[in-house]
Amino acid sequence: MYQAIEDNLKGMEIGILVNNVGMLVFFNPTRFLDMPNIDKAIMDTISCNMLSLVQMTRIVLPQMVERKKGLVINLSSEVGNRPFPMSIIYSSSKRFVDFFSRGLHAEYKSLGITVQCVMPLFVSTDMIHNLRTNIFVKSASDYARDALNTVGYTNRTSGCLSHALQSFALALLMPDPVFEFVLSLKTLEDVFEKLRQKDEKMKK
Ligand SMILES: NC(=O)c1ccc[n+]([C@@H]2O[C@H](COP(=O)([O-])OP(=O)(O)OC[C@H]3O[C@@H](n4cnc5c(N)ncnc54)[C@H](OP(=O)(O)O)[C@@H]3O)[C@@H](O)[C@H]2O)c1
Repeated sequence: MYQAIEDNLKGMEIGILVNNVGMLVFFNPTRFLDMPNIDKAIMDTISCNMLSLVQMTRIVLPQMVERKKGLVINLSSEVGNRPFPMSIIYSSSKRFVDFFSRGLHAEYKSLGITVQCVMPLFVSTDMIHNLRTNIFVKSASDYARDALNTVGYTNRTSGCLSHALQSFALALLMPDPVFEFVLSLKTLEDVFEKLRQKDEKMKK
């Protein structure tokens, strides 16, 4: 597939690459081995969230380097900031995006390339079942506009003020050890289990 993309992009001048593609296989919290069709879930998430980003960068970056100018925007997530039990395949893939982006920025900044990592919380799209927008959940168009306004100012961002404040509050109120402890509580496991059962009932 990537060879075909590379062939088709030959001769095109690409100044901005946005690696937006991403999938969250299970919206409800799911323990690693409880993921239905786990083999496919693993392969799909890795190909979609990680492999595509690296391959598209490999394909497009050389011409940017040649022109000494270019912008790469990679979509990570707030859940890439820390281990996120019950969604570890997704959150680990987003961690990868964050590390790859920061490393790439350091490697290519002096060659005129900006690599920005965008780490949203909730944005109302298909991925999160189009949750109603409010002060926490941004609409896709508002979020995209705000995030694009940060280009050139920061290479790692929550993308908008509301998400930056939420991210800050989460880090402040729930440092990693506290966060992991809370998520490991038996009562929370029960809540997750009830959510799962409700989801299964709705599917039937
Ligand atoms: N929405 C959020 O709350 C949120 C939060 C944090 C991070 N993010 C990240 O933001 C990015 C955009 O997500 P979104 O919310 O816009 O999700 P979305 O509405 O589900 O859209 C995802 C995009 O990825 C494409 N895609 C998904 N799986 C694919 C596959 N297997 N092969 C090819 N294309 C595929 C979709 O293509 P089609 O349109 O053809 O289906 C769509 O363009 C993702 O990287 C996501 O992880 C989103």
